Amino acid sequence: MARNPYPTAAPFVPEHPNLPRLRQAAAGCKGCDLWQRGTQTVFGEGSSHARVMLVGEQPGDKEDLMGRPFVGPAGAVLDRALLEAGIDRDEVYVTNIVKHFKWEPRGKRRIHKKPNALQISACRPWLDAEIEVTRPEVVVLLGASAAQGLLGRDFRVTQHRGEWVESELALYVMATVHPSSILRAPDEESRHDEMRKFVADLKVVAKQIYARKAA
Ligand code: URA
Ligand code: SF4
Repeated sequence: MARNPYPTAAPFVPEHPNLPRLRQAAAGCKGCDLWQRGTQTVFGEGSSHARVMLVGEQPGDKEDLMGRPFVGPAGAVLDRALLEAGIDRDEVYVTNIVKHFKWEPRGKRRIHKKPNALQISACRPWLDAEIEVTRPEVVVLLGASAAQGLLGRDFRVTQHRGEWVESELALYVMATVHPSSILRAPDEESRHDEMRKFVADLKVVAKQIYARKAA
């Protein structure tokens, strides 16, 4: 393999990708410094025919240990919201802009740390390859890291959540909040309110993918 002079996953991405080949290759990725910090690469999950791709920030503690995206507390919120929005889990492919857990020790706990711009751009070839092989009709960016990483630094989720935005990622692209932000809401009432808004955004997605069936 050629030398990797700057952080990028590009040399690790196979030439004729499909999901199993991508997953296998990503398991050995050393495209940036994060490969040493996490337990394993947490690749995206779902059908290659999924019509919707959901993109989070990076795996959390539980995801890092299990090797699967959105299986921790944020994943539980996401599953519930998809159910409430009427989106079939089989229609969805879930992944992250960064495939390794970035963390710092605090006592015995591992505290989540935001990936930086270099790590996000280094990991981007994996997401591009996932999009290339699954060709989702809809891409939903969960939270500011994913939204700004893919739509630009100036993008404000608070201003444009739930709206279709112009992007080359897919025909229909939307950003909304990250499900973990709902867990961080200060009290029961605001948590409930945030969940309702999140579900409302996902219902816009449901309407799009099921439009033909409903018509
Ligand atoms: N948060 C994310 O952004 N992704 C996961 O996979 C889990 C939590
Ligand atoms: Fe490779 Fe992405 Fe992991 Fe960095 S975070 S080592 S680019 S898979």
